[in-house]
Amino acid sequence: MAVIAVTKERRGDETRVAATPETVKKLIGAGFSVTVEAGAGAAASFQDADYEAAGATLAKTAKAAIEGADILFKVRAPVDEEIAALKSGAIVAAGLNPYVEKAALKALADKGATAFAMEFIPRITRAQVMDMLSSQANLAGYRAVIEGAEAYGKAMPMMMTAAGTVAAAKVFIMGVGVAGLQAIATARRLGAVVTATDVRPATKEQVESLGAKFIAVEDEEFKNAQTAGGYAKEMSAEYQAKQAELISGHIGKQDIVITTALIPGRPAPKLVSAAQVASMKPGSVIVDLAIEQGGNVEGGKLGETAVTANGVKILGKPNLPGRIAADASALYARNLFAFAGLLLDKEGKFAPDYEDEILKAALVTQGGKITNPALSA
Ligand code: NAI
Repeated sequence: MAVIAVTKERRGDETRVAATPETVKKLIGAGFSVTVEAGAGAAASFQDADYEAAGATLAKTAKAAIEGADILFKVRAPVDEEIAALKSGAIVAAGLNPYVEKAALKALADKGATAFAMEFIPRITRAQVMDMLSSQANLAGYRAVIEGAEAYGKAMPMMMTAAGTVAAAKVFIMGVGVAGLQAIATARRLGAVVTATDVRPATKEQVESLGAKFIAVEDEEFKNAQTAGGYAKEMSAEYQAKQAELISGHIGKQDIVITTALIPGRPAPKLVSAAQVASMKPGSVIVDLAIEQGGNVEGGKLGETAVTANGVKILGKPNLPGRIAADASALYARNLFAFAGLLLDKEGKFAPDYEDEILKAALVTQGGKITNPALSA
């Protein structure tokens, strides 16, 4: 019977965990046995006793959990001590952040681990249930609005009171992928007046269907800005200049701006210049969800709230899914449970089919090498 280890997260201030009592039970039901490091779920409000009741074996240390395991599940890349404890050829599935965490990737390859980057799960229908980027971005989009509303010194909805009317906040969402769509929905639920922009034409209808207004330079380049995989292309300098001009006229009137624009494997595009930030009213708030990929906003600082000379706050909080850790863990753990099904054959025996297109796409290290072509350059 294949053993899955789940250990505490050790990178950054990570609060999430890769399995919950619910998924432990399901994994055991599917034929795995599960070892959980004591305290692994504490920061996400999952107790050791509940893991035990679900059938997990508790281990005192990460090393004790990992050395007997065939598979290691993590939210983020394992750290060196964890990698050192891996059995030869063990499988690792985690949000490896492989374009950035290159040292961890190399260490996993050197150890001979068979590592899967959950970010590389392809966006095909069969794999939706395993899609970590979607499950986490959705919660990040929600949380970005909550953080923005908290930092904003005024109300979100319009309120008519005996003492006069409170105006609705104007919220502008830049980048309408999974996170942006949830940010639109959340800001609308709170009663804000919402506008949004993206470079992919498919987003226009999505924005409008959520009751927000779409704003974008809709030229020939825009019509071709979506890759076959559904992602944005890097736009030309010419397009970016036109886009900046359009945004300049709009941004100064906004109360809260939430930026979510990403291009896979590239630094985040700069969408908001210092001059545009300076055009905003004092007390306005910008939440930069792309801050960990370099940020969409000039002047934003990772891990800090930058306050500009004109009193605009730029929130650079990393890991917003980690600020809603119980739900983020529950969804990610279900992504991993679905993924675990790919490691079994039809009879339920532990026998990963490395020819499966999902496993192929997500595989990043095997047999001592970095295998994924996207990472070899
Ligand atoms: P992402 O996190 O890579 O990027 C966020 C957004 O930023 C994207 O909408 C992108 O177009 C936008 N962006 C990039 N450059 C920009 C710029 N210069 N200005 C304005 N916006 C810019 O995207 P995410 O959330 O991962 O979604 C990408 C696509 O994948 C979407 O079409 C989504 O619906 C699709 N998807 C498909 C799934 C499936 O299984 N079929 C599952 C999840 C998402």
